[in-house]
Amino acid sequence: MHPTDRPRRLRTDGVRPLVSETSLSASDLVAPVFVDATTDERVPIETMPGHERVPVDQAVARVEEVRETGVEAVILFGIPESKDPEGTRAYAEDGVVQRTIRRISAETDAYVIGDVCLCEYTDHGHCGVIEESAETDPTLTVKNDETLELLAETAVSQADAGADMVAPSAMTDGQVRAIREALDAAGHEEVALMSYAVKYESAFYGPFRDAADGAPAFGDRRHYQMDPANRREALREARIDAEEGADVLMVKPGLPYLDIVGDLRREFDHPIAAYNVSGEYAMIHAAAEKGWLDLEATAHESLLSLKRAGANLIITYFAEDLAERL
Ligand code: PBG
Repeated sequence: MHPTDRPRRLRTDGVRPLVSETSLSASDLVAPVFVDATTDERVPIETMPGHERVPVDQAVARVEEVRETGVEAVILFGIPESKDPEGTRAYAEDGVVQRTIRRISAETDAYVIGDVCLCEYTDHGHCGVIEESAETDPTLTVKNDETLELLAETAVSQADAGADMVAPSAMTDGQVRAIREALDAAGHEEVALMSYAVKYESAFYGPFRDAADGAPAFGDRRHYQMDPANRREALREARIDAEEGADVLMVKPGLPYLDIVGDLRREFDHPIAAYNVSGEYAMIHAAAEKGWLDLEATAHESLLSLKRAGANLIITYFAEDLAERL
């Protein structure tokens, strides 16, 4: 009874760290920050315990809190003072995100990423301009090519304000090229572009839509976000974005899509990002609140798994909590 292979020899406390294949550190993480133009105090987000919407004049303080934990990168989401069909507050020079980026880049050393999308800024809640009759005819959807110009304008306005990176999340065909060309034409060759290349139409975004007030007023996002049933299509989406000039390719959501993270890792030399989304965060919090799961251990294992699958960087609402103990 003597096994020839004894992997257990490498599991003692002394040797485990030496043979560990994956590690997680604060420098892998990006923390989402919500800035709200409609409030002058911090408002807790009910569906995402520990997170809040902060007014513009609290944004620098909020970012400094994040940086104190060792996380240096933030991605900004805005809740505008008003919404309209074209989402004009998404690309206004004095928009909530633009004002915030100006402050953060002047007053902190944080690495600032702007989420580029229209759904928080349109009154209908879709990620671009829509057909007039879309409300009554569900086969009609976001007008792709008209939306490109608005996304490009949004990205340039964020870069003008001082964003280090822009991250288009609207799933509009051609958005990476449109944004890259507009950035370059405006003299922002140095601004990096992380594309939400593979973004699924996912039920896991529910808590975020509450947080950012970005749920569609009617219909859903099936006509532009990807079908969760599809795996090969993810490579096609990523290939298009890589060819159009994306610097980083993102998969979203994270944990339910580890196969996709792995596929992109094998197929591309680009850095791969994973978005550990609001529903993934809320699930663990809810179970932990009931005493059914250990919050920190489960969160840590989730993020470690994303890295093991091939992600280089992770956008996560756990960033601050975990960074403190990494
Ligand atoms: C904007 C956007 C969404 C998320 C990030 N950017 C919402 C959506 O597409 O519905 C979701 C993030 C999360 O759930 O944590 N398009």
